[in-house]
Amino acid sequence: EGTLGAAAAQSGRYFGAAIASGRLGDPAYTTIAGREFNSVTPENEMKTDATEPQQGRFDFSAGDRVHDWAVRNGKRVRGHTLAWHSQQPAWMQNLGGGALRQAVTNHINGVMAHYKGRIAQWDVVNEAFADGTSGARRDSNLQRSGNDWIEVAFRTARAADPGAKLCYNDYNIENWTWAKTQAVYSMVRDFKQRGVPIDCVGFQSHFNDDSPYDSNFRTTLRSFAALGVDVAVTELDVQGAPAAVYADVTNDCLAVPRCLGITVWGVRDTDSWRAEQSPLLFDGNGNKKPAHTSVLGALNTA
Ligand code: G3I
Repeated sequence: EGTLGAAAAQSGRYFGAAIASGRLGDPAYTTIAGREFNSVTPENEMKTDATEPQQGRFDFSAGDRVHDWAVRNGKRVRGHTLAWHSQQPAWMQNLGGGALRQAVTNHINGVMAHYKGRIAQWDVVNEAFADGTSGARRDSNLQRSGNDWIEVAFRTARAADPGAKLCYNDYNIENWTWAKTQAVYSMVRDFKQRGVPIDCVGFQSHFNDDSPYDSNFRTTLRSFAALGVDVAVTELDVQGAPAAVYADVTNDCLAVPRCLGITVWGVRDTDSWRAEQSPLLFDGNGNKKPAHTSVLGALNTA
């Protein structure tokens, strides 16, 4: 197959990209995105600050622009994200305790009701664990509202849209030897044992010189899958976009039956949040880079 999405579909997987509503007017961008990918993650448009800018007043205009574009072009959508310490609207940043808990529950219910039945996977909770070696939860207003805030979010989400796969999503959990990976693994194991509704774990996979790709990523994907959840590569980009690393990540996903698919975090290097690292599959002129060839080759030989 000649495109990433069609090649991934041969094994029942998807190959997606983060899409920014502000770029949908750029025909060079939409031509590549429309052709290559069969899954879309709104890069910013479904985050809390975008969807509930004033408490209780939901705004789905930007999220709908991306969702409509995806549907018109035959792509599935990953929802990103419902509960996160970052990109909270000012009103939420100023909440804590029981008021914040109720606000998060209302937020999940409001957003998931709007998109009910139209989202394949939701990143229900994003980046709830601390960096470094502590294995602790990240300090935030959400965490200070009570350690069970994550499971409350998942239970709320399951009731709001029983058809969506519910994911926990994080970065620096790709390397099996890292404390953060083990901490998330323990949480997922505990959730599965206690019947907290979680369906998938998203591995963001922002690889760079400080947190490089390691071949034990495959062990990580396998180990989480063995807990009874699906896994997905949700925000892939790699400093310098080495073709070999992109092929390795692709083959790691293909080696794990419960790996649903791969999403790259942007279309062209110039669209990336880390543009200076040229981390994506297309250069600023829209030309395919060597990493594109290596990913496509891996998908087609699976
Ligand atoms: O929309 C405003 C614009 O009106 C304003 O003029 C401009 C000036 O700074 O800012 C624009 O908002 C920016 C937004 O991206 C849209 O471009 C924000 O400042 C900027 O902070 C925001 O960055 C996003 C970042 O998340 C925020 O945390 C990136 O685009 C987005 O790629 C990035 O994505 C995150 C994932 O959600 C979670 N995992 C990590 C990943 C990379 O940081």
